[in-house]
Amino acid sequence: MGSQLLATKSIDRLLAEAENPAHCLRKTLGPWSLTALGIGAIIGTGIFVLTGTAAAGTTMQFPSVLKAPLFLWLIHGGHTVGTAGRIGAGPAISLSFFLVAVACALAGLCYAELASMIPIAGSAYTYSYATLGEIVAWIIGWDLILEYAVSNMAVAVGFSAYIDSLLAGIGLKIPDSIANPVFNDSLQRTGSYFNVPGFLIVMVLTVILVRGIRESARTNNVMVGVKILAILIFIVFASRYVHPANWRPFMPNGWQGVLTGGAIVFFTYIGFDSVSTCAEETKNPQKDVPFGIIASLIVCAILYCAVAIVLTGVQNWRTLDNAAPVANALQAIGLTNVERWVTIGALTGMISSLLVYQLGQARVWFSMSRDGLLPRVFSKVHPRFRTPHVSTWIAGLVVAIPSGFFDIGTLAELSNIGTLFAFILVALGVLVLRYKQPDRRRGFRVPWVPALPIAAIVCCLILMASLPIETWLRFLIWLIVGLVIYLGYSRFHSEFSKAHEPAAVTSERAL
Ligand code: ALA
Repeated sequence: MGSQLLATKSIDRLLAEAENPAHCLRKTLGPWSLTALGIGAIIGTGIFVLTGTAAAGTTMQFPSVLKAPLFLWLIHGGHTVGTAGRIGAGPAISLSFFLVAVACALAGLCYAELASMIPIAGSAYTYSYATLGEIVAWIIGWDLILEYAVSNMAVAVGFSAYIDSLLAGIGLKIPDSIANPVFNDSLQRTGSYFNVPGFLIVMVLTVILVRGIRESARTNNVMVGVKILAILIFIVFASRYVHPANWRPFMPNGWQGVLTGGAIVFFTYIGFDSVSTCAEETKNPQKDVPFGIIASLIVCAILYCAVAIVLTGVQNWRTLDNAAPVANALQAIGLTNVERWVTIGALTGMISSLLVYQLGQARVWFSMSRDGLLPRVFSKVHPRFRTPHVSTWIAGLVVAIPSGFFDIGTLAELSNIGTLFAFILVALGVLVLRYKQPDRRRGFRVPWVPALPIAAIVCCLILMASLPIETWLRFLIWLIVGLVIYLGYSRFHSEFSKAHEPAAVTSERAL
């Protein structure tokens, strides 16, 4: 059994399996579609909702030490920190955005190298199967499901809040009992029965995704254009109302504020990695996937830093702790019409983010099933649309139903920790493959190996340590549940282990 857990698939075998016509996806995507998909996934709810909280910090009195970031808890020797909410970055939230972009770019380069070597659906899951072994591949696949599913739940909940406020602006009110989460962040009942808009938007997008990736990519391109325009409108109009005094002091809570803010706004960058989940549907993955990842990151980093600089210049950072800081800032300076356009752009952003994440998630379920780690039905391809329709429907229901029940804050942090963990394994994968298969063709090579992947790992660890211990505990529970499923089901159904005699497994491992 030990040899099965550590056995790695050969990359040639992975490529051959992907060519099997029974599970083969249609290749329609080019570099700009991929960049648009990346931006579509990256810009979602985060920039419109979390920027304010990360700048201002939270003023809530948390009842439990568990809300303290891990690094504070460690510094205090594991004792009660007595934290009153989270520390804000202040105007330095723009610095947090910049630093997180650098950390993501480091991880993005690692993704790009692996995607250019192994252009197959499944992203980090597939890469770890080829580098770190079946058990690590399972853990990462399970972790990716958490990242994609939970972040989309958060986005769907944000969508519901924004659509509610947009409709209220034109005199239409959805009853609170069907437009809010059933539970708040502390898992107490809110009085609502179900969050219907959050549920519905995910189901509508599921239907679009089942119909086909080309149609989905086209829909996405239009929505990406609209949300970029909305952000630009905010930057251009609001920048005239900037008071430089609001930027002083720049770092009111020092580096601790910058890091804690970074751990929160990391959520806003989640998504660029989903470009690599589409490698198998890309015409020229060796070149196009690295391009799509890096280009989408650069565009988003510029937009985010600009929004953060303008937002903290227009309003004092202490006043930004609300659910719609961008819209509220526009209202505060009297730009009501602009605010309406930005809200429509925000909604569009959320829809395209949801779309790409549902797409990526279905492909992780699909890949794990193709390998026998999940039941076969997940890797069925629709006879006419050539899309993984069963896994798309299941991913839709897995996200839509909890979106009707839970609140946004906890979901975002859980998603962050899962994603950071995936980034670490991808950077490790680059190091392992450079050592094990130095001569294999790479369409894109990470510069300065091993320094750059190691820097990516260190950055991710710092951000993980800036998340609350509560989030760490939830993450560990998720991983333990995953291990139980692996040991109870997947390991006995793994196609790879079924097809290999122990001797063959050993020889692949030695590659
Ligand atoms: N990056 C995505 C967002 O900000 C998940 O909503």
